[in-house]
Amino acid sequence: TPRIFSGIQPSGGLTLGNYLGALKRFVEKQDEGIETIYCLVDLHAITVWQDPERLRNQTREAAAGFIAAGIDPKRSILFNQSQVPGHAQLAWIFNCVARMGWMGRMTQWKDKTAGKDAEKASLGLFAYPSLMAADILLYHATHVPVGEDQKQHLELTRDIAIKFNHDYKVDFFPVTEPVIEGAATRVMSLRDGSKKMSKSDPSDASRINLTDDADTIAQKFRKARTDAEPLPETVAGLKDRPEARNLVNIYAALADTSAEKVVADFAGQGFGAFKPALADLAVAKLAPIADEMKRLMADPAEIDRILGDGAERANAIAEPILNRTYDIVGMIRSR
Ligand code: TYM
Repeated sequence: TPRIFSGIQPSGGLTLGNYLGALKRFVEKQDEGIETIYCLVDLHAITVWQDPERLRNQTREAAAGFIAAGIDPKRSILFNQSQVPGHAQLAWIFNCVARMGWMGRMTQWKDKTAGKDAEKASLGLFAYPSLMAADILLYHATHVPVGEDQKQHLELTRDIAIKFNHDYKVDFFPVTEPVIEGAATRVMSLRDGSKKMSKSDPSDASRINLTDDADTIAQKFRKARTDAEPLPETVAGLKDRPEARNLVNIYAALADTSAEKVVADFAGQGFGAFKPALADLAVAKLAPIADEMKRLMADPAEIDRILGDGAERANAIAEPILNRTYDIVGMIRSR
């Protein structure tokens, strides 16, 4: 039976990229009735410096974002990673299975250390994908919905599962399937069509935050960078127009339709017409989420209670898998 696991780092506010590439699809999977486990990966977040009070607040805010977007903490398991000790425990074992060379080839590692002294990056940042593999395999998850940028990490997760099974001559960890679907698997910056929309971009105008109010959302789309051409008749006409392509993809994902359909509807129209339509659609879909997040954030104790309950249910699945892993590896378990 399928079991879905995915995670988001609470290292900043959630963006429209997180929403369309991940969160919105987490809700769809939950609503299809599949078993779904969603994790705020606070241990991953501290691979780069996080102010403790901000980290706590951002973790609660991300949890509020999940619930506001439609995650039902009764039907899904929603928790923060550090409350289930098995993540860090299994990650250690995987650190001993994975090879340095595998980690060094990760493009995210290379990007994050490009032009900097890699010697000064934390050891955790280097080993990050091994913890991510532990997140997934601790639950024997079969499917992992993510945006395009996580694809390489999921391939590494498969490599770790395969090497573990091979080294210990077992058929224990499943080989997980990435699920990269929808019209917006890679949402780009609103200021630069060659850069990914990211919570760490210094320019706030480059992204839509899930906490942005209606006016801010509308204004950011109005000011989004574009070319001066009208929209083409087919998506093929968006080739070499990354900013236009990005706005079309965002529209399609928000409207639950395809880029082909959006282009057909707006063919021949300029951005003077398309941007206000996009802004209206985005406000209609996103402003209610921001409002609900604000309401939920007024009761942080309730959010903490939900995360604690989720962690308990997650732990109940994780513990037997971790114990079995220790057995396989040859650790004495006598208490
Ligand atoms: P993170 O926190 O960077 O992003 C969370 C999710 O959002 C997706 N995403 C995007 N999708 C489309 N366009 C964008 N601009 C965009 N930006 C982010 C990401 O692909 C991701 O699905 N390593 C992960 C967190 C993680 C994880 C896991 C994920 C830890 N353990 C286990 C899956 C399974 C990360 O840093 O995601």
